[in-house]
Amino acid sequence: MKKQLTIEFEEFEALNELCEKDYELVMEARQALQSSYSPYSKFRVGSAVRFQDGEIVKGSNQENVAYPSGMCAERVALFAAGNDAKQRKIAAIAIAAMKDGCFVAAKPCGACLQTMLETEKRAKASLTILIALGEDKFAKVEGVKNLMPFAFTDF
Ligand code: THU
Repeated sequence: MKKQLTIEFEEFEALNELCEKDYELVMEARQALQSSYSPYSKFRVGSAVRFQDGEIVKGSNQENVAYPSGMCAERVALFAAGNDAKQRKIAAIAIAAMKDGCFVAAKPCGACLQTMLETEKRAKASLTILIALGEDKFAKVEGVKNLMPFAFTDF
């Protein structure tokens, strides 16, 4: 039997179309680009994670001369937030990327999506994911299932 899945997201043609909270999170992700350590790929990635109480934690990609030892921006931010002493729940994540000084599309890799799935499990709630589709185009995705429907589970 052939089956089809549909994914759902909201598209925004410009940054100023986002609501205030989402705009702020994307701006924080863009700010995180400054701390990117990416001498090998020269591809900067920044991420900002928002707890349910509104506080924001940032992360950026951290590379290593032994390439696989590096870490994506999303997971740097998610693990920093996961390490929160108060164990607050995470509500949203935004991703930004920059190449040759210009904002470019920023979409999470599979390993980061799998980590986001764990974030949802911990929060017992879906995660809002703000992705850059281009220099000034954004997608708001509600729930990791829309980006990785066949994620690994142990049940
Ligand atoms: N990268 C991220 O930070 N997030 C992703 O979701 C995928 C890729 C980083 C890893 C590496 O430092 C650079 O982008 C180029 O692959």
